Amino acid sequence: MSTAWTARYALRTKGITSSAIRELLKATQKPGMISFGGGLPAPEVFPTQRFEEACHKVLTQQGASALQYGETEGYRPLRELIANNIARYGIKAKVENVLITSGSQQALDLIGKLFINAGDRVLVEAPTYLGALQAFNVYGAEYVSVPIDENGLRTDLLEKPLRSGPKFMYVLPNFQNPAGTTLSEGRRHELVMLSEKYGIPIVEDDPYGQLRYEGEHLPSLVVLDRENLRRDDGYSIGNVIYLSTFSKTLAPGLRLGWIVAPPEVISKLTQLKQGADLHTSTFTQFVAYEVARDGFLDQHVKLIRKVYRERRDVMLQALEEFFPSEVTWTHPQGGLFLWVTLPEGLDMQAIFRAALEQNVAFVAGDSFYARSNDGHDNGAREGSRHMRLNFSNAAPEQIQEGIRRLAAAVKSHLAATTIRLKLPLEV
Ligand SMILES: Cc1ncc(COP(=O)(O)O)c(C=O)c1O
Repeated sequence: MSTAWTARYALRTKGITSSAIRELLKATQKPGMISFGGGLPAPEVFPTQRFEEACHKVLTQQGASALQYGETEGYRPLRELIANNIARYGIKAKVENVLITSGSQQALDLIGKLFINAGDRVLVEAPTYLGALQAFNVYGAEYVSVPIDENGLRTDLLEKPLRSGPKFMYVLPNFQNPAGTTLSEGRRHELVMLSEKYGIPIVEDDPYGQLRYEGEHLPSLVVLDRENLRRDDGYSIGNVIYLSTFSKTLAPGLRLGWIVAPPEVISKLTQLKQGADLHTSTFTQFVAYEVARDGFLDQHVKLIRKVYRERRDVMLQALEEFFPSEVTWTHPQGGLFLWVTLPEGLDMQAIFRAALEQNVAFVAGDSFYARSNDGHDNGAREGSRHMRLNFSNAAPEQIQEGIRRLAAAVKSHLAATTIRLKLPLEV
């Protein structure tokens, strides 16, 4: 029944619900719970002492400006630091190309606000980052979903969807959330060429690019797009908008992300950000700058890589040890997640409930598929065979124990399903 309040809500809020993951996070606060659910960094690696020193320095030396309103574009020294950092990955942005946002999540919202009219299509990967769908849904996005495989987005399937005229493509090339897969170099080239050919821009979301545990860094789409267009003049034009964040390299509680785009796009996004929050917290930006400067960020990222590589390896090994042979999973070269595929016919919700009873949590795969208004599920049914497992947040011993418990839940459902499937033949 609709209350007086719900009847007053704007049409764009129709169908907007709370993220399954944020709801799940509440359930996993229970003591004894081992959670592979959220995308949470390991709290043990937060550089708290460096933050403490930075806060003290900012307040004693620059207190007045750090506590004052600031520029919407962001704190200039932090924008410079970001531009210098990403230059090492070949992204030669000027300060004018960088807009600081309140996390990458705000960047996704601003991009939705800038580009999506109700009913516009957005091309997304199947599966894709749930938070992006939530951000775009508010603007009435429709979706064209293109499947991924172990080498990322299936670029061989792109031409037809691109001809249907999506507003932009939303792509996660590195250690994808949720699947942990990485877009191969060949497909990266193909993708930027297709973007140019069809005039469809790319939103490249890259929160995990620096967290690579094996293999060589692959060039970002924003870099390959420059090469493809034969432009080396800063980001005056181009087909790619690049997003990243300090959430996974410093701390997510900072809520600090950034957008790299041509200046005309940055200027429009800045106007929209003014309306949203005037600017990202000045104090937080000053502190993040003090924390990250003088090479600390690089040094810290090395520590994170070491800790997460070990956790990934422990999870991969535990899966090998405890999971039945009918189950497969991805081998992520970096990032925070891996993607497990179960045989068809299992009831994932029942497995989820059984896992929670055993004090272990994960996110069921169907949350990560965009649904269309025409009722097409874009692979969500296929998603019900998958679970996303996060390996960054739990300590190695917990990972081992959590996977053992999860395997027990999966095995008992597998056995029950096999019996159920066999019954009609045997009776
Ligand atoms: C792919 C992707 N994009 C964006 C975000 C949002 O990050 P932030 O904390 O910077 O808002 C996340 C967070 O997990 C993510 O996985």
